[in-house]
Amino acid sequence: MNIEDLTPGQESERRAGIGIIGCADIAVRRAIPAIRKSPFDLVAVASRSLAKAESVAAGTGCAAVEGYEALLRMPGVDAVYVPLPNSEHAEWARRALEAGKHVLIEKPAVQSAGTARGLVELAEERGLLVMENFAFLRHPQHDRAQDLLAEGAIGELRSFNGVFGIPPTDPNGIKYQAELGGGALWEVGCYPVRAAQEYLGEATEVLGAALEFDAKQGVDVSGVALLRDGAGVTANCSFGLSHSYRSTYDLWGSEGRLTLEWAFTPSRDARPVLRLEQRDRETRIIAPASDQFLGVFGAFHAAIRDASARPAHHRELVRQAGLMARIRTHAG
Ligand SMILES: NC(=O)c1ccc[n+]([C@@H]2O[C@H](COP(=O)([O-])OP(=O)(O)OC[C@H]3O[C@@H](n4cnc5c(N)ncnc54)[C@H](OP(=O)(O)O)[C@@H]3O)[C@@H](O)[C@H]2O)c1
Repeated sequence: MNIEDLTPGQESERRAGIGIIGCADIAVRRAIPAIRKSPFDLVAVASRSLAKAESVAAGTGCAAVEGYEALLRMPGVDAVYVPLPNSEHAEWARRALEAGKHVLIEKPAVQSAGTARGLVELAEERGLLVMENFAFLRHPQHDRAQDLLAEGAIGELRSFNGVFGIPPTDPNGIKYQAELGGGALWEVGCYPVRAAQEYLGEATEVLGAALEFDAKQGVDVSGVALLRDGAGVTANCSFGLSHSYRSTYDLWGSEGRLTLEWAFTPSRDARPVLRLEQRDRETRIIAPASDQFLGVFGAFHAAIRDASARPAHHRELVRQAGLMARIRTHAG
């Protein structure tokens, strides 16, 4: 096993190389354009089909590779981005770590705390990083929300309400395939659940959860989860795959309410609005435009370079997987 240590002091001037396994829609639309602006060198894209890899690689200057394993054997690849169907994340993340690569796994990374812990242990044994891609966390609008909360703009936080729902998409797509880890909870419910954890304390319990299944499609298409932390702050998370589009959360405090109107998927050019309601006053705060995918690859790169940044990503991965699994169990 060759492990190349890219931490400062031991690296050369060489830029870190990244490869992508799976020519997913999200890789083509958001990740590749962001990687090309990031500190990474895009070394290769791999697909089960060489023709597909070639068409995605065209114009990027990177190699097209047939088969994911072949990409994991490439020496210039220090890190791997895994935008595969949810059911494939754990297996390919493990194989990438075993091949000595840092790994960025698309959300929802894995479906149990045990699996997440196993990946983190493997990464830590080998001096590597494993990180879950929640791109929305990299948008500065959430930092502004945290600052307002810390400044007391809404008093003490009492509850979080998060909603992410999208209209139906291609019924043959991976979102609707139970055996590929699809369904509303895993595909979209993970967003408000992840956002809630930015505001609730560590000891978050699941008070209730429900999932609505579409018998014909064989997956959950709608759901809700109710959480509470040790201090009694609650989170109500609603989500669905058969809804009009909503992507928002609000923080309701003792003195006011702060709403992020486009919380999870603002486009690169959008300037999302934070609405602050305080007694008889409403203030609209316009956040700067931001490519949150570029932010992800920047954060991933930074934690490859600086090992002290890795434990936080590892804790977040395990915590999110554990909470999601408990919600799934609670829903029955
Ligand atoms: N962070 C975000 O904003 C965001 C947004 C959307 C989706 N996602 C996540 O990103 C991942 C990919 O989502 P997507 O919508 O981009 O998926 P997609 O377009 O369907 O791509 C999935 C890719 O996985 C590969 N694959 C391997 N085994 C497969 C199988 N049995 N069936 C289908 N594809 C298979 C295929 O690549 P090859 O054919 O090239 O091998 C395929 O292109 C999911 O985990 C999803 O939750 C994240």
